[in-house]
Amino acid sequence: MEMKGESKMYDNSLSIIIDTDPGVDDALAIMFAHRANMLAVRGITTVFGNQSIEKTTRNACTVVDIIGAEALIYRGASRPLVKQAFCAESHGETGLGGYWQNGELRNDKPLTQPVENANAVDFLAQTISMGTMIACIGPVTNLAILANLCPDVLRRVQSLIVMGGVFGEPGNTTPWAEFNVYCDPDAFAQLLAFSDVSKVLIPANICRTVTMDEDDFIGIQNQALSSAIKDIVSEYVAYYRGEHVYGGFAGGIMYDTLVIAYILWPELFNTTPRHVVVETGNGSARGATVIDRKRDNEPNCLLACPSNEKPLGVDAQEVKRRLLQLLSG
Ligand code: RIB
Ligand code: CA
Repeated sequence: MEMKGESKMYDNSLSIIIDTDPGVDDALAIMFAHRANMLAVRGITTVFGNQSIEKTTRNACTVVDIIGAEALIYRGASRPLVKQAFCAESHGETGLGGYWQNGELRNDKPLTQPVENANAVDFLAQTISMGTMIACIGPVTNLAILANLCPDVLRRVQSLIVMGGVFGEPGNTTPWAEFNVYCDPDAFAQLLAFSDVSKVLIPANICRTVTMDEDDFIGIQNQALSSAIKDIVSEYVAYYRGEHVYGGFAGGIMYDTLVIAYILWPELFNTTPRHVVVETGNGSARGATVIDRKRDNEPNCLLACPSNEKPLGVDAQEVKRRLLQLLSG
């Protein structure tokens, strides 16, 4: 099967694929990635998570339309490997906050971005070339299926940059679990066990240092883009401002955007090799992620974490400034 996009030449230095469940923060991550000159987005694969696969795939098309780009979008897994599917509430009924209303586009602009005929795993299996990086910003079900079906393809990947897990703080889905891992802990465990590919893990406790609200997008000259982003983020921002475990945040936690920031500016992060384990049972600890220090000598990921030089684990203010600058033109 001929995959579209193979003939398209990329003159950018970093070739990436985004695996995503848009999702308000996913939407911003996709926008930032398309505006970053250093990145060539070879394709977008969708997965269930923040909303159903139907809605996350529709939302991926919508976001690419909004940012005025073109992308190869492939629909992926509609449910976890083993567990029952689970939807988030913070992204709203549509998964894009208030951008849609009553299931319809608020600005009644028809979608122009199509979904390709092939499925996500076939696209990954036929497209991943040496040096490709994959931004994993939803449940990692598609990648676990690829690891099972085409391990040699996954071995070509330069690095999986994964938003997932939480360490030293409460989770955002249960007291112990972060959402992407909670959704499909079996897939996450299988990916951690796949030792032939580099994995960088950006957990929720690091992502909580970067929040954005509607005012952060006032500087965008393109008024249509500024207005669309405000529609997308406003309900999500209100949710996190009213968050009860931490007593509220300054804005919406834009978790997934830190994955794009790491790919662009890894020097802004502190990472250390760690052996991470995940609870795959169906009990109350489902999706809990823990560091096993006794297995420091057999790390299964590079974990973003605080250090003396970077107490937050990331230069959060600089990450936010650079990301927003990508949209300012
Ligand atoms: O826990 C945060 C993650 O879950 C992000 O990827 C967000 O989009 C949700 O999918
Ligand atoms: Ca996501």
